[in-house]
Amino acid sequence: MRRLDARNLPCERCAPKRLRVPMACPLRGEAFMEDAPAVEVHGLSRRYGELLALDRLDLSIGAGELFGLLGSNGAGKTTTLKILTTLLLPSAGTAWVAGFDVVHAPREVRRRIGYVPQLVSADAMLTGRENLVLSARLHGLRRAERESRIAEALQLMDLTSVAGALVRSYSGGMIRRLEIAQAMLHRPQVLFLDEPTVGLDPVARHVVWDRLRELRVQFGTSILLTTHDMEEADVLCSRIAILHRGRVTVQGVPAELKAHTGSEATLDDVFIQATGAVIDRGAYRDVARTRRTAQRLG
Ligand SMILES: Nc1ncnc2c1ncn2[C@@H]1O[C@H](COP(=O)(O)OP(=O)(O)OP(=O)(O)O)[C@@H](O)[C@H]1O
Ligand SMILES: [Mg+2]
Repeated sequence: MRRLDARNLPCERCAPKRLRVPMACPLRGEAFMEDAPAVEVHGLSRRYGELLALDRLDLSIGAGELFGLLGSNGAGKTTTLKILTTLLLPSAGTAWVAGFDVVHAPREVRRRIGYVPQLVSADAMLTGRENLVLSARLHGLRRAERESRIAEALQLMDLTSVAGALVRSYSGGMIRRLEIAQAMLHRPQVLFLDEPTVGLDPVARHVVWDRLRELRVQFGTSILLTTHDMEEADVLCSRIAILHRGRVTVQGVPAELKAHTGSEATLDDVFIQATGAVIDRGAYRDVARTRRTAQRLG
């Protein structure tokens, strides 16, 4: 943590007093970015009519973390990501991303984030390279910068040899890697991925994991991903939170959460305990075990 002095303290008008750390101040520019957490959420709620999809969510993700958001179907994971990426307004509470308030400074947030949504976002009728050019323009990259960033992204995601092929000929793993490349072109501080490996075979899944680890090491990118895959959460994420009916029920380091649950406990057990009676324990464990076996054979 850098030492704070008068120059890098936020100005009075902008200082978010209820936060523990100094945040980016629009008047003083980037002075605080290094210290700002990737995500800081307090009492975040979101209603869809009668349904309370998010219920006073608290979440804190440090800069450079690879954080996993878990939860059953309908728990509120995508809703959380949509609010953090400024696509949806919260009904109550506050959320800061890379030091900026998602409601009051959405443009500043958008400049600093990348987002890979749950549904496929790459255009199947364009080539991989054309998709990247489109993203580079949307991110406002200058022409001089565009070519080198695209070449670098293709190389990092192992897509150089297929850059000229139409995306409709890509495998699921290649499409996901292309979408990550698109989301990373402008070197965002925080990358959001909604179920990045769902439907991928074990080999493709491992390739995506390796690429995400590389982004973290090479660019110091903070990553927040959602997943239903306990192995993914266990081996990839430095910390996780489990959402249940719009509330965080458990948060922490996977190894510590397992140890706290029981001496032989797996992350499946942690999940089952955190989400309670809605899961049929036998059925869930059977499915998880079968899936693990299939992965070992795959
Ligand atoms: N636009 C919407 N209008 C009404 N209800 C919605 C809307 N979007 C989501 N919901 C509801 O809000 C709740 C949370 O949905 P959300 O998509 O955030 O869950 P999720 O955790 O991402 O689920 P999944 O694992 O299935 O992707 C669900 O009950 C869902 O049906
Ligand atoms: Mg979702």
